[in-house]
Amino acid sequence: MNTISQYHLKALLTLAIPMFAACSADKSETVSSPDGNLEVSFNLTSRGEPSYSAKYKGADIVEPSLLGFEVKDSEALDKGFKVDSVSRSAIEETWVPVWGENDSIANNCRQMTVYMSRGDAKMDIEFRVFDDGFGFRYIFPEQTTKHFTVTDEKTQMAMAGDHTAWWIPGDYDTQEYEYTRSRLSEIRSHANDDFMPNVSSQRFSPTGVQTALMLKTDNGLYLNLHEAALVDFPAMHLELNDTTLTFKAHLTPGPDGTMASFNTPFKTPWRTVTVGEKSTDILASNLTLNLNDPCALDDVSWIHPTKYMGVWWEMITGVSSWNYTDAENFDLATFDYSKAKPNGRHGANNEKVRRYIDFAAANGFDQLLVEGWNIGWEDWFGKEKDYVFDFVTPYPDFDIRALNEYAHSKGIKLMMHHETSAAVDNYDRHMDKAYDLMNQYGYDAVKSGYVGNIIPKGEHHYSQKQVRHYLDAVKKAADKHIMVNAHEAVRPTGLCRTYPNLVGNESAMGQEFADMSPQHVTILPFTRLKGGPMDFTPGIFRMKITDFAPGGQGKLKRATIPNQLALYLTMYSPLQMAADMPEHYQKYMDAFQFIKDVPVDWKKSVYLDAEPGEYIIVARQDKNSDAWFVGGVTNEEERNYTLSFDFLPSGKEYKAIIYSDAPDGDCFDNPEAYTISEMSVNSESSTKIRMARGGGFAISLTPAE
Ligand code: NOJ
Ligand code: CA
Repeated sequence: MNTISQYHLKALLTLAIPMFAACSADKSETVSSPDGNLEVSFNLTSRGEPSYSAKYKGADIVEPSLLGFEVKDSEALDKGFKVDSVSRSAIEETWVPVWGENDSIANNCRQMTVYMSRGDAKMDIEFRVFDDGFGFRYIFPEQTTKHFTVTDEKTQMAMAGDHTAWWIPGDYDTQEYEYTRSRLSEIRSHANDDFMPNVSSQRFSPTGVQTALMLKTDNGLYLNLHEAALVDFPAMHLELNDTTLTFKAHLTPGPDGTMASFNTPFKTPWRTVTVGEKSTDILASNLTLNLNDPCALDDVSWIHPTKYMGVWWEMITGVSSWNYTDAENFDLATFDYSKAKPNGRHGANNEKVRRYIDFAAANGFDQLLVEGWNIGWEDWFGKEKDYVFDFVTPYPDFDIRALNEYAHSKGIKLMMHHETSAAVDNYDRHMDKAYDLMNQYGYDAVKSGYVGNIIPKGEHHYSQKQVRHYLDAVKKAADKHIMVNAHEAVRPTGLCRTYPNLVGNESAMGQEFADMSPQHVTILPFTRLKGGPMDFTPGIFRMKITDFAPGGQGKLKRATIPNQLALYLTMYSPLQMAADMPEHYQKYMDAFQFIKDVPVDWKKSVYLDAEPGEYIIVARQDKNSDAWFVGGVTNEEERNYTLSFDFLPSGKEYKAIIYSDAPDGDCFDNPEAYTISEMSVNSESSTKIRMARGGGFAISLTPAE
């Protein structure tokens, strides 16, 4: 059995050298990264306002920026402070994730905590500075005031220039947006660009943006602003003052307009800045994970990377329906499905699910997701109905016992689906029974979802109460040995280190938005994925959706098949779906072979080349063999890329199978055209590969016999 001691606590060396010193109000306290390149300074202004700044190789990356909070019924915690003492220490350790892009992660940083007070009020700031960035958080030790209600967070991040940004608008309820690339000073003028409408959305400012925010300075330095370990606190957005180019934290409010309530002692999430001279440094950074606590679970033996298929894309494209009848607006408690007229389009029916099980099992998948298996889907969308699902009663044509037994007999599991329609109280009321049902039938993973406005009304997807709910659902699932993949939940902040049963989130515009721009997948790894893996659901093979779903959404997927294959590499996740339907894969079984072969857990990852919004090339070594895999994706520009295999160990020969765009392949005109070729390579080899518009390539490399 794998236990925490094997997986998590392989700290090679932990140095803790606390040094306490009283310091005067006007003195700055500085802490540098282990390599000395990054320097973060704390200062109190003459008014006793806490502030910080940061330099990389002597150049400002964060100019003097204020810290603190406004709180209810009390003087703001942003001025009048004195520094009582400062402590410094270092962390040097290597830890072993349960699953990940690498089989071990170095966590090396220098730490500085500034202890401050103003009369009875105490507030400390803890900094951790790594070679690839820094984070800081507020610590409220035990003090006379037992309870604080935050009405505003004053944290600033003052930018040193009018950087280029890849941003989505600040919104309390959704991250399902296309990214805009603009100068910081141009964000306002793009605020009302034609963004995707969403069933639940609340913007708060024309200069509000979400994290993780990707930036590039005119000197070519890459910066990324985010948060880590979002626990018991609302999600942070950033609001730009576009005159001073200073961001200010903007917390998601609750129904009464206040942001957060907590009892002392309390620690806020970390506010983070990742820094890289190369864009690939940002992709490779583990700063978010390192700022999270070690694994909190004693036994992780039941957590496993998973490759899955789903009765899903056919509902997304309109070929079949989640709902069993076309009745509407009924009381779930009294509606009699046995007397209702089936609509004849229900996807999750016994016969179809068996067919999917057969295909998924025959092709080596671990699980099959089935959506629309449970009663209530007639009223699921946009109705703000409280008792919308019970999460335990199957539709009449879904035999939960027989289908699970059938799946198990073929060596795979079914994956549970809990769409909550954002009726969160209702989900909370049913969660125990819903998880128990999973245990009863042998499900060990759930995809949950939060489509629509949150009930109770006034709460937002990213408010403190909701943030608590998502983590409670993960913790409760861990007690029952269930892995969680939550869609429309708050974007991740590295909590999968502490709770590795949080195997995925959506929390961004994923493949369900079939006609997303090709650049989207070249940005997500720089933004959304910095908090944790995404259930992007790659692997679409039939791009002209109107060809098979004439009455459906009428969309053209702007990607080629090699682009979709590459996503298994470029969009790291321990949970990867083959999202298309079996009959579509049957048409292209030779390309499907790559999806069958590609692992979902890695010994080592090497980001070879990238530019946000343009292209990403990554090589990864399988955790359980000597095989390597390479993926590359491009935006709407065609590119000729020379791939060097110098990431391979020297002196070893590999058989490369290269899946690339056909010479006339193109995401608009010929998206399903690809070529498959083979060659022998070693660490000295290179090859030229054409990536079509919206295209890419995928390569498997197995050691030659
Ligand atoms: C939105 C999710 O992102 C999608 O994957 C799911 O199929 C629908 N909600 C229905 O739950
Ligand atoms: Ca979604």
